[in-house]
Amino acid sequence: MSNKGVVISMAIAVTVAFFGMSLYAVAGEGMKGMMMDPYIPKEKVMKMKEMMMKMKPDTLEAATMRGEKMFNNPKLGKNQTGQSCATCHSGGGSIGGAAEMSWKGMKMKVAIPTLKGAAVNFPAIRGPMKRIADLGDMNNMCIMTFMKGLPINKNMRPAVDLQAYVASLSKGKRYRPGGMKVVPTPVPGAM
Ligand code: HEC
Repeated sequence: MSNKGVVISMAIAVTVAFFGMSLYAVAGEGMKGMMMDPYIPKEKVMKMKEMMMKMKPDTLEAATMRGEKMFNNPKLGKNQTGQSCATCHSGGGSIGGAAEMSWKGMKMKVAIPTLKGAAVNFPAIRGPMKRIADLGDMNNMCIMTFMKGLPINKNMRPAVDLQAYVASLSKGKRYRPGGMKVVPTPVPGAM
């Protein structure tokens, strides 16, 4: 390498090192800002404790009641059909008969199962695609397919509330994942 070459590569090395270090320093400052000070002032800790003491703890009963309200709400999922879950699963059971759905351009009938004792069967294989589904998936499937509404975010409390109500219809039943749906009044030709 010529002398000129050595000088140029040294200059490049110094520049890279300098910028590298300053970037590191900037990142370090940023990290400091992002990290919480592990020493929270005592007054602040006391205030947080006070707030937690005042918070009313949620209960399964309260969640179940919120879920039951959702179950009977004809506007659930902003649906346009005016149906609630109870329209087909009256009182958590089944009104009998079948509901219509279309799949790949085909119209098909699907027998309406009772939800009494249904929750213990999940996860289970359901639907024309024979996919594995959990209880929250089934609740959303009914909202989207039959009620033509928007699904409920499964990571949010309302989805759990609705599951709590549906699960309350299986109280005392044995858990048996993979179980079949129960149709009180089978309909010929229905899935
Ligand atoms: C238009 C009628 C209709 C409405 C409204 C309806 N469902 Fe369904 N539901 C069905 C049918 C039909 C099935 C069977 C689907 C299948 O076998 O793939 C079903 C299945 C289910 C299942 C699974 C039961 C099992 O054992 O496989 C659950 C849980 C369920 N519905 C909950 C709900 C909830 C919650 C709502 C309201 C958000 C709702 N359904 C609204 C008709 C309806």
